Amino acid sequence: MLTLSGVGKRYPTGDRALTDIELALPKGQVMALIGPSGAGKSTLIRCVNRLVEPTQGSIRLEDTEITKLSGHKLRHARRSMGMIFQEYALVDRLTVMENVLSGQLGYVGFWRSFLRRYPQEAVVEAFRLLERVGLTHAIDKRADALSGGQRQRVGIARALLQSPKLLLVDEPTASLDPKTSRQIMRLIRELCAERELAAIINIHDVALAQQFADRIVGLRAGEIVFDGLPSELDSDMLTTIYGEEEWDTTPEPMDDETTDDAPVNPPYARVLSSIEAGGAR
Ligand SMILES: Nc1ncnc2c1ncn2[C@@H]1O[C@H](COP(=O)(O)OP(=O)(O)O)[C@@H](O)[C@H]1O
Ligand SMILES: [Mg+2]
Repeated sequence: MLTLSGVGKRYPTGDRALTDIELALPKGQVMALIGPSGAGKSTLIRCVNRLVEPTQGSIRLEDTEITKLSGHKLRHARRSMGMIFQEYALVDRLTVMENVLSGQLGYVGFWRSFLRRYPQEAVVEAFRLLERVGLTHAIDKRADALSGGQRQRVGIARALLQSPKLLLVDEPTASLDPKTSRQIMRLIRELCAERELAAIINIHDVALAQQFADRIVGLRAGEIVFDGLPSELDSDMLTTIYGEEEWDTTPEPMDDETTDDAPVNPPYARVLSSIEAGGAR
């Protein structure tokens, strides 16, 4: 469903961040993009939604050539790509619900989306998503009152609000502890399966990538040096990808089914049904 061919990026500063990237992502596949800092992981996923302009090559999402779009066609295409960042990419003084709804207009300016009344369907869908990610008890909490894992759940709900076909995820666990990192990766993985969503997840933690991805692509100095199954990634290949740099691992035992972030679902159904019946928020 997503095909990159001959994609290259040279920044105006002269940095050559990507060279001749060939990548085809089928529907529903969860791909982890690993590689050392500066390898071009963020540049690659940002080229896909054109937050960064590729300087060479073609990027197709289903039947659309992304590199040729502009204006409202580009905004429309971006709506089919949900983006999840590190957990701090929330607006601290806004509530959980407001943060999720702020994804509604995609990449349109925040204030434009915030000052609008959100369509009722969006509010209903946001409730459903917050239920799915286990945050119905925190809907009216300010984002800055949440734990790191809860914040990332908000980011995930926000990215899913527009029913994207593809998730672009940039270091979702970079500032989370190992246990919470696994919970977040598991949640992303499950949501992709439920919704047949493809995902590209940039992640520096190799063990997490191996545990939760269908496929691993290794990037080094802007070039793909590995593309295969998690089980095919051995220590020689890791040395090829990371060179002398130590790669991260997750040494803790996997006893993380219970958590501080465990959902405590209040009778939110009442709120939801009042909204569905036409009540304003
Ligand atoms: N806005 C930018 N302007 C100039 N060079 C950049 C910019 N963003 C990234 N780079 C360079 O592109 C390369 C790849 O960076 P990046 O995609 O951020 O890698 P990663 O996400 O794997 O750490 C690096 O050499 C980096 O310095
Ligand atoms: Mg990066």
